[in-house]
Amino acid sequence: MRVLSGTQPSGKLHIGNYFGAMRQYVELQEKGHECLYFIANYHALTSVSDAETMKDNTLEVARGYLAVGIDPQRSIFFRQSDVPEVCELAWILSCVTPMGLLQRCVSYKDKVEQGLLPNHGLFAYPVLQAADILIYHSHLVPVGQDQKQHLEITRDIAIKFNNTYGEVLRVPEPYILKESAVVPGVDGRKMSKSYDNTLELFEDPKVTKKRIMKIKTDSTPIEDPKDPDNCTVFALLSLFADDKETEQWRQNYQTGGMGYGQAKKRLAQLTDERLGPFRQKYHELVSNVDYVEDVLRDGGVKARQIACELMENVRSATGIVTSPKK
Ligand code: ADP
Ligand code: TRP
Repeated sequence: MRVLSGTQPSGKLHIGNYFGAMRQYVELQEKGHECLYFIANYHALTSVSDAETMKDNTLEVARGYLAVGIDPQRSIFFRQSDVPEVCELAWILSCVTPMGLLQRCVSYKDKVEQGLLPNHGLFAYPVLQAADILIYHSHLVPVGQDQKQHLEITRDIAIKFNNTYGEVLRVPEPYILKESAVVPGVDGRKMSKSYDNTLELFEDPKVTKKRIMKIKTDSTPIEDPKDPDNCTVFALLSLFADDKETEQWRQNYQTGGMGYGQAKKRLAQLTDERLGPFRQKYHELVSNVDYVEDVLRDGGVKARQIACELMENVRSATGIVTSPKK
């Protein structure tokens, strides 16, 4: 199976990103699939308009993915813009994309409400995403729940193209990652950069511990039973602890006699154990920018080969050919 997914370079990665997406990307790689993972810098132009920030964020996300286990020997890991053909395909797809399809897209409305500029790039975002997916002939696209509609749009566009020009594009299957939407932030809302409630993946452990100790909990006295299913600390603990330990904490909550402080301390310890090796790798990569650049460049070359093969078929199906050399 060919697996493909993209991540916008939009800032520091947090444990919501890890449990909601990155961990599954690594698992799919470990299962032996042919994985392509890229940093969606063209897409990020819809929210980042400063060149230095764009470059920094791109490297930051690249380091992050390498640190948690994306292995460039086994997966093709690259920068979206190293395959500029994707923009060519996006235009061709635009010409078979009905306006109504994009007008129904909730992420455009949501993003405008959040303050992003309502420009054409933001409106056409799903068409570029469709091009990303279709240009690599992907079978499976692992994404969070928030991307479900974009995948439906991709499938609709692929079917429309094939009906018009013949069976050139593979209609991909979504693979909705179950845990996305469930990782809560330190204030109990969904963990998100936009809420400033994150536990960053590569943060200094002391800062992480401080943030954990400040997680909002209710005022149930220590001796009383507590509801684990309504507690952010428990939700986070259950992501880091194994099943046996999670069950033990569930009982501790329900029996009473346990303070939230105890659970928080254990959570801080568990994050340390689990994230420690990631942090170490991340810091090695911070001081090895050339290596990260090389990985992205090599990945880009491999990805571009696949993309160019598909573009040959797309150009020939649409009659868009460049003039032969004299
Ligand atoms: P943010 O909300 O911090 O801007 P992004 O939208 O950049 O995060 O997240 C990229 C991907 O990471 C999402 O598509 C989703 O799969 C995953 N993700 C982000 N936040 C969470 C969360 N709190 N719980 C689970 N998954 C998440
Ligand atoms: N829109 C995705 C997000 O914000 C990023 C993305 C761009 C993507 N192109 C993609 C995801 C192709 C999967 C496949 O998270």
